Amino acid sequence: MRLGRTSASVLGVLLECPSIVAGCSHVNRMQIEETARRLVAPERGILAADESSATIGKRFEALGIPCTAETRRAYRGLLFSSPGIERHLSGVILYDETLKQSAQNGERFVDLLASRGILPGIKVDGGAKPFAGHPGEFVTEGLDGLRERLGSYRDLGARFTKWRAVIAIDALHPSRIAVRSNAEALARYVMLAQEQGLVPIVEPEVLMEGDHDQARCEAVTGEVLQQVFDALHAHGACLEGLVLKPNMVVAGKKCPNQSTVEAVAEATLRTLTRFVPAAVPGIAFLSGGQTPERATAHLNAMNQSQRPLPWQVTFSFSRALQEPPLGAWAGQAERVVPAQKLFAHRVRLNSLARMGRYSHELEEAV
Ligand code: 13P
Repeated sequence: MRLGRTSASVLGVLLECPSIVAGCSHVNRMQIEETARRLVAPERGILAADESSATIGKRFEALGIPCTAETRRAYRGLLFSSPGIERHLSGVILYDETLKQSAQNGERFVDLLASRGILPGIKVDGGAKPFAGHPGEFVTEGLDGLRERLGSYRDLGARFTKWRAVIAIDALHPSRIAVRSNAEALARYVMLAQEQGLVPIVEPEVLMEGDHDQARCEAVTGEVLQQVFDALHAHGACLEGLVLKPNMVVAGKKCPNQSTVEAVAEATLRTLTRFVPAAVPGIAFLSGGQTPERATAHLNAMNQSQRPLPWQVTFSFSRALQEPPLGAWAGQAERVVPAQKLFAHRVRLNSLARMGRYSHELEEAV
């Protein structure tokens, strides 16, 4: 049979656009969509506790805490057993060691979290490495053997995963090829995670380091998101079964002109509404080096916005949730309870901000 002109051109479009052909054809689509919606459910957000041993080591060292498997276990145990957090946390992202580790009483951390109704997740990227031929830029590695690692993490109880790409800004960067290479790696990770029944958190982080202004952060963040969603479409990812974890649109840390809370919220939402499809169930921000109070205020302002938003807007902070309890604990067993109170307080404040119900006065009500 000969195809008419219209059918032939439709077929041409389909062949060039695998997303229309592949769509969300995974057998586990229902399961990942359900998990993704749970991760961004109202009043809840995600704790990122997936620092590598080297990264947590630097944070421990600044406070004079020795970095051993035992101190890391004690610290993560403190966080995960804090009273009340289960009302505000949907998930916790873990590092390989922690996913396989148990609390001091022998209970696996994965089981402890699951028993509190908190989904365990796992960071699966191999870290941002220097991008060959492009000094000052990075590409995230870790795709080799990823299918097998994802399968074993799922068998250990993980329900979702994270991959972080890092984009640095200076006068000459980022280059288009660095953005495209990172977007491509993110899309390949997403396809593998969804194939294995795990919800991928997609984290393309535009760094705050530098003296660039907010407008430049907005332009770069928009370009990065466009490339990421282009790659996700080209690979046929199930957008309904993932969570986006972007940076907020802020000026560089060394920029003399820092924006107001309202200006950050407005620029961030303007950028996201331009580049993030409505099919994505939720956006869970990283904190990126903002102070805990500032990150909470920005999240709150976004959730108070009059703009109609198609996705849930919540948090997936590491430093902005952990700085107060880590400083209060400082490795001392007798300070566990006050540190847990500070952690639960920070989690609750962000849960309120995630609903647009935070105010600065609540900071004092620990
Ligand atoms: P921060 O909130 O400290 O930026 O960390 C988020 C994160 O998960 C980095 O990968």
